[in-house]
Amino acid sequence: MIEIKTPAEIVSIRKASRVVAEVLLQLKSRVKPGVSTLDLDRFAEKSVRDLGAVPAFLGYRGYPATLCVSINEEIVHGIPSPKRFVKEGDIVSLDLGAVCDGFYGDAALTVAAGEISGGAKRLMDVTRRSLEEALLKVRAGARLGEVSHAVESYAEENGMSVVREFTGHGIGRRLHEEPSIPNFGRPGSGPVLKAGMTLAIEPMLCLGRAEVIVKNDGWTAVSADGSLAAHYEHTVAVTEGGCEILSIVGNG
Ligand code: MF3
Ligand code: CO
Repeated sequence: MIEIKTPAEIVSIRKASRVVAEVLLQLKSRVKPGVSTLDLDRFAEKSVRDLGAVPAFLGYRGYPATLCVSINEEIVHGIPSPKRFVKEGDIVSLDLGAVCDGFYGDAALTVAAGEISGGAKRLMDVTRRSLEEALLKVRAGARLGEVSHAVESYAEENGMSVVREFTGHGIGRRLHEEPSIPNFGRPGSGPVLKAGMTLAIEPMLCLGRAEVIVKNDGWTAVSADGSLAAHYEHTVAVTEGGCEILSIVGNG
């Protein structure tokens, strides 16, 4: 069953999602050659707590950090480490979740460290736009397959491949609720969206092939062919006419 949230519940999801957006914005300028991925995690944890929220990923199924930092061929769930440093030319995906008043917010983006290759730029661009295309399909009465299909078709038309092992998800009192939101699908398929559903939509695309390997740490998902990956995510609330993006800071 896909839960419909009350306006009061959406207030809390918005609060948590804005904390995530604010901290991701602050992190963006800290992604520079020489910073360790643990430095980024420390900053994220302190900032989330300073904003009155609680890190959502820390301890989730044993995940050991606040932030996921996934560099280059790492797709998602990169574990911060004091020994891993960002270097010039890297693309760095940051995924963050926070809890406010018992409700979750979740968002992600990919940041360039210094000058990056043309392919990396295109990948980041297409991944971000595939999320925008998906959000344009979200409204009460639409079927979820339209949203999924929007990501897949935009990505593939632009020469990128879609990761199939991980999906977006409903979000609310739990980080992962129904429905599961694949980044591929048929327009006529899937549940019908209703106003008050809250969804985390998160395309993960690769520049090469999209097969996934999970590393020995049990978390870090990398592209099997070593090709670059990018990841963008927003938490949104379905409305009658479209959706409200909850994971953006006040002034957009
Ligand atoms: N955005 C990711 C997700 O929805 C983050 C989860 S990381 C975890 O699955 F550590 F919490 F698992
Ligand atoms: Co998510």
